[in-house]
Amino acid sequence: MPTVFIPKEVVPGETRVAATPETVKRMVKTGFKVIVESGAGAGSYISDDAFREAGADVSADTGASWGAADVVLKLHPPRFNEAAKAFEADMFKEGAVGVSFLYPYQNLDTVKQLAKKKVTAFAMDLIPRITRAQSMDALSSQANIAGYKAVLMAAEALPRIFPLLMTAAGTIKPAKVVIMGAGVAGLQAIATAKRLGAIVEVSDIRPAVKEQVQSLGAKFIEIEGAENMETEGGYAKEVSAEFLKKQQDLVRQHMAEADVVITTALVPGKKAPILVTAETVKAMRDGSVIVDLATEQGGNCELSEPGKTVVKEGVTIIGTQNIPGTVAFHASDVYAKNILYVINHLFPKGEAKLDLEDEINKGAILTHAGEIRDPQVAAKAQENGGS
Ligand code: NAI
Repeated sequence: MPTVFIPKEVVPGETRVAATPETVKRMVKTGFKVIVESGAGAGSYISDDAFREAGADVSADTGASWGAADVVLKLHPPRFNEAAKAFEADMFKEGAVGVSFLYPYQNLDTVKQLAKKKVTAFAMDLIPRITRAQSMDALSSQANIAGYKAVLMAAEALPRIFPLLMTAAGTIKPAKVVIMGAGVAGLQAIATAKRLGAIVEVSDIRPAVKEQVQSLGAKFIEIEGAENMETEGGYAKEVSAEFLKKQQDLVRQHMAEADVVITTALVPGKKAPILVTAETVKAMRDGSVIVDLATEQGGNCELSEPGKTVVKEGVTIIGTQNIPGTVAFHASDVYAKNILYVINHLFPKGEAKLDLEDEINKGAILTHAGEIRDPQVAAKAQENGGS
């Protein structure tokens, strides 16, 4: 039976982990030998003892554990590992399976190194958004949490309350929240803001989401000319500069009247569109709050700063990154479950069964047997300095 290793994430400030005692128990029951790096669960309030009780070996020997593993389960793409003084992509056993986010275009050297090591690299960010793969969809599980937490962060920073209050001292009007982008994070933000009692308005360029937005009790801001803005895969297309200008002008008035703006608009593989211009921030009321969930892709607000909370033009602009990591217990819980479904998919009943023609594997297995399987990534890697 294969040996599975769950290392401690090495990205500074990361609190999440790719397994929980519950998923370890399930893997051990299937027959896997599971090793967890000592301290891997600390940021998610999971002790080494909890992993031991679930049936894992806990090891402080990072290098030896990587070397012994047939399968490595983690969250971030392989990085430099201080504890082992080595690059994680070099620490895999030749021919091992690695499951993590990979973001190949930002990590071309890592992808090349994984191919060189003959690692079968399964990228969580490349899983096709098909019904059969929903249980493995970590982009969704993490975006869901980010959407929820973004609303709480806004509520915390806002000098007003969210709900309508009718008191003896007078009536307090409900807060007005504008949400840009109604994908997974945006829809969860709508639901959370509604539960807190806000009035919610939403804009997206995929008209298909209008019904979903309305069914959550929010108002949809229509944008003329947004009929063909959806790709076959269900994602947004990159809009023209002209369209973007029209959109910015249209939403400015809605934002000027808002207490909170939450932006979640992304276009896969592209820089995030600027939807909140400096001019719009200026038009907003003092004390209002913007939470920009897109800062890792360049940001939806012209004035947001990645990883920081700043006050500009009297508006608090929150650019916190890795928001799911601020809710580490549940972010790890759902990520670990996504990973467990991947393991059950790649190793049904604990035996490796790699069907490279399977639709999920076709999308998500980026390197295998020394090859980079995605031709576009392979071409980019080649451009980037041979392979
Ligand atoms: P995403 O994170 O790529 O983008 C977030 C939202 O931003 C999207 O709704 C997009 O239309 C919007 N956006 C992009 N440019 C914009 C602009 N200029 N103005 C306003 N909004 C803009 O999207 P996410 O959350 O990953 O979801 C993408 C799609 O995939 C959705 O339709 C979702 O329902 C679908 N999906 C399907 C799944 C399945 O069937 N397994 C699982 C998860 C998502």
